[in-house]
Amino acid sequence: MKRDFLHISDFTSQEILDLISFTAELKIKLKNKEIFSPFEGHSLAMIFAKQSARTRVSFETGFNMLGGHAVYLSPDDISIGKREEVKDIARVLSGYNDMIMARLFDHQHIIELAEFSNVPVINGLTDYNHPCQIMADIFTIFENRDNLDDLKIVYVGDGNNIVHSWIHLATRIPLHFTCICPEGFEPDKEAIDFISDSDKSTFELSHDPINDVVGADIIYTDVWASMGQKDELNDRKKIFAPFQVNSNMLKSTGKKTLFMHCLPAERGREVTDNVIESTNSIVFNQAENRMHMQNAIMVMLAGKM
Ligand code: CP
Ligand code: NVA
Repeated sequence: MKRDFLHISDFTSQEILDLISFTAELKIKLKNKEIFSPFEGHSLAMIFAKQSARTRVSFETGFNMLGGHAVYLSPDDISIGKREEVKDIARVLSGYNDMIMARLFDHQHIIELAEFSNVPVINGLTDYNHPCQIMADIFTIFENRDNLDDLKIVYVGDGNNIVHSWIHLATRIPLHFTCICPEGFEPDKEAIDFISDSDKSTFELSHDPINDVVGADIIYTDVWASMGQKDELNDRKKIFAPFQVNSNMLKSTGKKTLFMHCLPAERGREVTDNVIESTNSIVFNQAENRMHMQNAIMVMLAGKM
């Protein structure tokens, strides 16, 4: 039976830990320029309904490094769900490719794509979640600390797709996860219920960016308006201003706190220049690790791990 990578919570705790170890192995292999070509003669279709720098380049480069060929389909090429039904494109692309990666708006579309594809489908971000990002992020934290013990992650900003994937991870790996957002910008209720029903991690929802960052090992933020919401940015700027990650916020944690951001960052809004450029910031490690983690995910889905 083929498997897809749509939500982190579709995988067990052990599978997630195995992926973290395998990513470390693969990263060393690639850095040492060892030949490892599990995808020789294979092809990956990459559907993008939204813009991308990291996701596009990391998947394309990674798949090529592993011996395969990746095909980039821009927002204008397929117009998924508009020019053609999702279930039709799923079967068409399955006929040419060994794997499909897609970045889509509607989360139901990635579920439908996976249901009707005969090959593994990887979620490269939807309005609901961004599982490859958070898998790369937890690997980056592991690289920086050597363990994931007693980890307090404080996300400050919009309760968006990034938060939903953190929540899904927290149902599998024990974390202390706090989401600090303005009122009205909470994560989806279904995601909150999911973490509340799980006893794996502790979860706090807060609207207090001053007191509730205390003790954070990680402060994580993201843009205040995601792709598809940019017309709301002007209104959001005022509402989100107290939630900016700046040096005062980093200092107020009372410990050495690492700063993370999935990027792209809108410097001067959700994060100041000096925080993103500080020695606390591991944002470019995160970006690089997207490729290594996704390589591991693709090798696992192909049954070659
Ligand atoms: N973090 C991330 O997914 O970046 P892109 O939107 O550039 O792919
Ligand atoms: N929340 C952001 C993440 C970008 C990687 C967005 O969806 O635009």
